Amino acid sequence: MKKTFLYSLVVASLLVGCGDTLKESASGAMDKAKEAASEVASKAADHAKEAAAGAAEAVKSGGNVAEAAKEAVKEAASKTVESAKEAAGAATEAAKEAASGAVEKAKEAASSATEAAKEGAEKAAEAAKETTEQATEGAKEAAAGAAAAATEAASGGAAEAGAKLYTKCAGCHGAKAEKKALGASQVIAGWDAVKVEEALKGYKAGTYGGAMKGVMKGQAAGLSDDDIKALAAYISTLK
Ligand code: HEC
Repeated sequence: MKKTFLYSLVVASLLVGCGDTLKESASGAMDKAKEAASEVASKAADHAKEAAAGAAEAVKSGGNVAEAAKEAVKEAASKTVESAKEAAGAATEAAKEAASGAVEKAKEAASSATEAAKEGAEKAAEAAKETTEQATEGAKEAAAGAAAAATEAASGGAAEAGAKLYTKCAGCHGAKAEKKALGASQVIAGWDAVKVEEALKGYKAGTYGGAMKGVMKGQAAGLSDDDIKALAAYISTLK
């Protein structure tokens, strides 16, 4: 944010600086035009004087005064037009120069502004990337936390459901699974959930067990996969 503000300041000062230069060249052109105009005026005055002198000359020599005056005025007028043309040319030249200078400065200012804008955009993109990365990191962490909480809640729920189901098993295995069921099984207290789950699934399918697996096949037959998971989760908490 701060950086972007600084860039706009730089751009603004470039433009302002350039504006001064433009004003300068414009006022230079005005000055030249004024100069040319006053030159024209003074030349016109000169021509008028010359014409008057010519007319006086004609009066003195007694010639055709009207004719001579006409001639002199004509000449003065054409000379004035000539000078005005010259002055206009000079003024145009000066204006052209000022204009091309202004275009040059404007071009320069535009390219510096573009440069600054580019840099600003790059910085903004970088900052955005950083923010996105941080946000992603935060979202990941939050998701991991949520997943952990969900797992914990699920296994807590499963263990609770397992405690209910276990009441059927307690008669043979003991309230804390601390007994050898019917004196034949291993003590299953302290088994981890996966081991219990595999044993129960194995009994159900007839692929696991010892001499008395028939007893457990009857016990496991009515258990769903969810029941088995819940029982395994609960038994793994008995130590
Ligand atoms: C009628 C008594 C009885 C009941 C009720 C009973 N079991 Fe068993 N359980 C046994 C016997 C006997 C074995 C050993 C079977 C064998 O030879 O593999 C055994 C084995 C096991 C084993 C494997 C231990 C080993 O030695 O490999 C697990 C796990 C188990 N029972 C879980 C349960 C669960 C869970 C329940 C309740 C749903 C349950 N049992 C209900 C008698 C019982």
